[in-house]
Amino acid sequence: MKAKDMTAVAMMMAIVIVLGLVPPIPIGLIPVPIVFQNLGIMLAGITLGSRKGGLAVLLFLLLVVMGMPFLTGGSGGASVFVGPTAGYLLGWLVSTLLIGLGRQRFRESSNWLVKFVLIWVPGVLLSDFLGSIGLFMVTGMNFRAALLSNLAFIPGDTIKVLLVVMIADRLIKLPLFRN
Ligand code: BTN
Repeated sequence: MKAKDMTAVAMMMAIVIVLGLVPPIPIGLIPVPIVFQNLGIMLAGITLGSRKGGLAVLLFLLLVVMGMPFLTGGSGGASVFVGPTAGYLLGWLVSTLLIGLGRQRFRESSNWLVKFVLIWVPGVLLSDFLGSIGLFMVTGMNFRAALLSNLAFIPGDTIKVLLVVMIADRLIKLPLFRN
């Protein structure tokens, strides 16, 4: 990997870590708060593509496994990967890879709706679905209830996707993020 690509990967990891400094917003229904880090995760996929974006998210998650307090609210350590949010964390890696693949497939499209759907389906729908599976498996909560409680995240996550489309449009014009 070129030095420029490694810098872009490191920059994206830094963005995800900084977004973790925004305090979590509890929703009450389930032990999963509203966070802003998933905005950075979606941004990694759409600006860096699956290979570099996936690497940025993988390295970020490895630092978390190693105990770095980089998740929202300062949590970290291997235990979070068997906790109530484990499904979302796995979903973050899967969604980055899929958003990146989508970006490669629809590279020529400048239509914002195409970009919105490319990000929203894996970044919101799939990620919240995998999160519900994790909640069901870890907390023993009824799967239907886990799924329904995740509907609370959809409006906020959808606004994050709109922000990601706007931010990515500007970032990809910078030499660091240009292919
Ligand atoms: C963690 O910090 O352990 C992960 C938190 C995961 C929160 C998920 S991400 C998708 C959904 N949207 C949110 O704002 N919160 C949940």
